Amino acid sequence: MLLLGIESSCDETGVALVETHGSALPQLRSHALHSQIAMHQAYGGVVPELASRDHIRRVLPLTEAVMAEAGRSLAEIDVVAYTRGPGLAGALLVGAGVACALGAALGKPVLGVHHLEGHLLSPFLSADPPEFPFVALLVSGGHTQLMRVDGVGRYELLGETIDDAAGEAFDKSAKLMGLPYPGGPWLAKLAEAGNPAAFKLPRPLLHSGDLDFSFAGLKTAVLTQAKKLGAELEANKADLAASTQAAIVEVLLKKSLAALGQTGLKRLVVAGGVGANRSLREQLNAACAKRGVRVHYPELHLCTDNGAMIAMAAAMRLQSGLAEASERYAFDVKPR
Ligand code: KG4
Ligand code: ZN
Repeated sequence: MLLLGIESSCDETGVALVETHGSALPQLRSHALHSQIAMHQAYGGVVPELASRDHIRRVLPLTEAVMAEAGRSLAEIDVVAYTRGPGLAGALLVGAGVACALGAALGKPVLGVHHLEGHLLSPFLSADPPEFPFVALLVSGGHTQLMRVDGVGRYELLGETIDDAAGEAFDKSAKLMGLPYPGGPWLAKLAEAGNPAAFKLPRPLLHSGDLDFSFAGLKTAVLTQAKKLGAELEANKADLAASTQAAIVEVLLKKSLAALGQTGLKRLVVAGGVGANRSLREQLNAACAKRGVRVHYPELHLCTDNGAMIAMAAAMRLQSGLAEASERYAFDVKPR
């Protein structure tokens, strides 16, 4: 079975081809991505209307590119998968509309996929795929969740953020420091030259005893610190970045270890954009190695939004019998 996957929930247009053979792990045949980051940078964040318009410009050329790269024709596609939500409504409608139009034109069924399930299953695209069950730390720009995952579609939410997501904490703190959008990778880069112990920043809910997160207070503390520094901010920026990153990473690390302890599982999967953070990876790897826990990540370029994870999630859902692709082309999206 050949699946085309289309991702357009935010500021990346991603298209990919995944192939399945029976119950074997689906294989990625080709994928293409266009990032809109440069376009939105001038505005300091994603402009939804511009995002939709750019998805429209990119999605069919990217589809042609993945077909050509895999040496396959559109007629060979068996299922067209797309991100149904969550995300920006207008942006989601582009992917859903194109997927359903392609499906209708080819006479092939379509399947809407949950964006977070895409992130969650993205490590199965790596050369070292995990095995069920595992604890998943899902850390993106919009979500921060810990989950117990017993199989495809068997997800138990263990804890989540009660306010900002971890990626948001990175991005908002970076913005306060005058770094470009999206700030996460910029803040991480700057942090490499800084002292993580230079500023005392809060670790919200670190000792709350549950597996929930809160990052809104951290952003406020960074703002207070930046104001206090005033003209000295520039000279202390690397230290503030390193201290901010250390606070976020420590909370993610401690709560992940607590989730592993609580479930007794010996496997951790880290997915979503913040999973690309090097300090987070280093600290998780070290702590898990000590505890005999194996950690799995998606490949670095598949940590952030992409079409491969959408095609993969669709393929795994179909394989497990949890979903059926449909020839009803009247589509809707679920922004929330
Ligand atoms: O998963 P993703 O591409 O989109 C969402 O579904 O939200 O995640 C994007 C988030 C942004 O907040 C971005 O700043 C953050 O991931 N991010 C990072 C790094 N790379 C991306 N945060 C920290 N360090 C990084 N290296
Ligand atoms: Zn995402």
